[in-house]
Amino acid sequence: MSQQVRGVVVTAKDAPAEVTTIVIPDPGPGEAVVRIQACGVCHTDLHYKQGGIGDEFPYLLGHEAAGVVESVGEGVSEVGVGDFVVLNWRAVCGQCRACRRGRPQYCFDTHNARQKMTLEDGTELSPALGIGAFAEKTLVAAGQCTKVDPEVSPAVAGLLGCGVMAGIGAAINTGQVGRGDSVAVIGCGGVGGAAITGSRLAGAARIIAVDIDDNKLETARALGATHTVNSRTQDAVEAIRELTGGNGADVVVEAVGRPETYEQAFYVRDLAGTVVLVGVPTPDMRIELPLLDVFGRGGALKSSWYGDCLPSRDFPMLIDLHQQGRLDLGAFVTETVGLGDVEKAFARMHGGDVLRSVVVL
Ligand code: APR
Ligand code: ZN
Ligand code: ZN
Repeated sequence: MSQQVRGVVVTAKDAPAEVTTIVIPDPGPGEAVVRIQACGVCHTDLHYKQGGIGDEFPYLLGHEAAGVVESVGEGVSEVGVGDFVVLNWRAVCGQCRACRRGRPQYCFDTHNARQKMTLEDGTELSPALGIGAFAEKTLVAAGQCTKVDPEVSPAVAGLLGCGVMAGIGAAINTGQVGRGDSVAVIGCGGVGGAAITGSRLAGAARIIAVDIDDNKLETARALGATHTVNSRTQDAVEAIRELTGGNGADVVVEAVGRPETYEQAFYVRDLAGTVVLVGVPTPDMRIELPLLDVFGRGGALKSSWYGDCLPSRDFPMLIDLHQQGRLDLGAFVTETVGLGDVEKAFARMHGGDVLRSVVVL
């Protein structure tokens, strides 16, 4: 029996995100229905609303979520009814060439639920990143559910589902930040802030936060930055070189996704250092760099997909570190709001005064 619940839907480009009735089918083979307890408001949700990701309206927004498994379909063994789970948007297939080579974090064929959730009139919904969790319940592939310690608050746990994992993973998984490293993080929103936290966790000796907004730099300090640079008033490249003995940083995380910040990242990296691009550019953006510098500076220019995370490995581990007091995931929750407040949260995000608003159900 399908069921009707409330969910936040955008019916057309730039239309308001509105709470409406949605229909959730019973889980089919390999699927699960999850009762959502909390879901963070991410920039990607706003991009969906603005038509920046696709034209498959209506979208069911929300994708940084935690909740409890309500029911599972045939053949599901990885999670069971009653499990507290964090949802992920990259359920690995186990079959593709990346999975077969033992690198499932790069899975090239991730999947979502096969059945569709709909509006009451039967119109199929496109769930954001295959999740759609600004809703009382959602239907996902069972592989999108990762069981974690149920003692942790859902508002905190859900954040691992996207931005915070992307940032921590950019530093730890992609950038391989190690003890004693110097790190520069360009752009200190939710993702960059998490890269700072991740770098501290990994034992970086020096963590330089770069942003154009002093409020963000203040937050960055609270998250573990040892130095801050306002690149509106200072030359970021010069300032970072100065803070690193004239050399540049071992690892630079670019968490904005723009050509000018990528170029800064490229030039503030020490010889043989690593640049990690975790900010997402738009299709029109281009960079031009002297090829001789690309060669001559050596090292690695990497991109980080979702922090190159493996949810089954990384989510429980980060929750454990949080529970032990070694990783303050709560610092990313600026405010908790209701299901009807997603539009207001978008406005606050636009104003730049939140790391994360989290919808709590
Ligand atoms: N130089 C330095 N910082 C900048 C610049 C710039 N030119 N332009 C913007 N910023 C800062 C903003 O002030 C803000 O603090 O980058 C930060 C971006 O943060 P958010 O808007 O909160 O975005 P976030 O959720 O962190 O995501 C960052 O990663 O996942 C992607 O699509 C996402 O591209 C985005 C990026
Ligand atoms: Zn795969
Ligand atoms: Zn997201």
